Amino acid sequence: MSERFVIEGQGGTKKLRGTLAVKGAKNAALKALPASVLFADGMPLENVPDIEDVRRMRELLAGLSAGPALHKEVAERLRASIVLTGPVLSRWGQVSFPFPGGCVLGERPIDLFLQGFKALGAEVEEKESFFHFRAAGGKLKGARIFFPFVSVTATETLMLAAVLAQGETVLQNAALEPEIPILAAYLNACGAHIEGAGTPTITIQGTNGALLRANGRVFTVPPDRIEAGSFVILAALAGEEVEITGCEPAHLSALLALMRRADVDFKIGKDSITVFGGHKPNSAHKLISARTHEYPGFPTDLQAPYAVFMTQASGEGTLLETIFDSRFQYVDALVRMGADITVMNPQKILVRGPRGLTGKELEGPDLRAGLAYIIAASIAEGSSKINNAYIIDRGYERIEERLQKLGLNIKREKI
Ligand code: EPU
Repeated sequence: MSERFVIEGQGGTKKLRGTLAVKGAKNAALKALPASVLFADGMPLENVPDIEDVRRMRELLAGLSAGPALHKEVAERLRASIVLTGPVLSRWGQVSFPFPGGCVLGERPIDLFLQGFKALGAEVEEKESFFHFRAAGGKLKGARIFFPFVSVTATETLMLAAVLAQGETVLQNAALEPEIPILAAYLNACGAHIEGAGTPTITIQGTNGALLRANGRVFTVPPDRIEAGSFVILAALAGEEVEITGCEPAHLSALLALMRRADVDFKIGKDSITVFGGHKPNSAHKLISARTHEYPGFPTDLQAPYAVFMTQASGEGTLLETIFDSRFQYVDALVRMGADITVMNPQKILVRGPRGLTGKELEGPDLRAGLAYIIAASIAEGSSKINNAYIIDRGYERIEERLQKLGLNIKREKI
């Protein structure tokens, strides 16, 4: 049986009020769990979000007790499963995995991982839809790896692979996402030697097989910057006054700069952002063009929620996707709701605003677009149904309960 969300839109009124706490970051937890493979005594974690993707990663980890092969059906549904391959190969000298799945965002190849493992001295064999990697002599050997383009999970996977290797690994053109230095600092406290995480060049001195030890140190999953950013947009469009707590505003600079240029009223606290949406109608916001970019640029994971924001602002402008080749599948549904959006090419849309939205029956193509639909539905006239609640549950913990507390009329229904 599947579930859907039913949302009664507020139309032009901006009534949401109260406090909304941000959960731990999905994309940090999904890397911290694999990192636990590097430990002799386990890796205690806190602030782990209770979401579908985390449950799947835990299943994959549990399955490893039967040998260094990832469970096929689970890995095929979770792109982040590939992150496990790094620590497993590093610790046990071999790993088998199927081509990883994940949200449909266009082609998502794994060439950087394959090249990286080969550079670290692993031999690869592809058979029966599994890749089998084996480190010569049972141990990975440090190497210089230059990424031809920036990849978040390739950076994380190869950083984790290098931790237990023999000798020095240098990763160049590495991703800068804040989850990377946060994880590296914890690993270093437990015996790893990683320098430069958070910069384009990361240098890892391998421990030559010596496992890390937590000695009771707990890894705290940092707050989810994508969830926080989506809440800022929701609060600007549907909120009277909403305080988003337990977040790290410094990780949201790109979005907050856009919000400021668009004339959204908000106040930044130490670990909170208060949005005063009720100060003005949405048509008083300016429509500002944006393009996605690797961190610290504007995140592709906020692209769909920001598109909804653009449909309500005054003016016209473009939104350019530069990370994925197909991430505008949600646009048709927004147009059905009344948005004025033209797809210029697979990576660029033109938005004219403001346009009133009407509630519709929707089906999110990926979890970020799913949240964008919740935002669109909450400001629409009338009721909307988002049929695949599951895709939103992959990344957002019990979203309906949290939004109900702000006064949003949203409920979960079995279908
Ligand atoms: N790419 C390749 N070959 C590779 C690896 C990546 O061509 O071997 C391409 C990708 O297809 C993409 C680009 O490189 O076009 C950059 O993708 P990246 O590898 O950085 O993305 P990712 O690591 O697979 C993570 C997040 C995504 C987020 C992107 C970009 C996780 C588990 N996923 O994906 O999050 O959109 O970085 O910031 O960390 C989400 O949470 O909804 C989500 C999709």
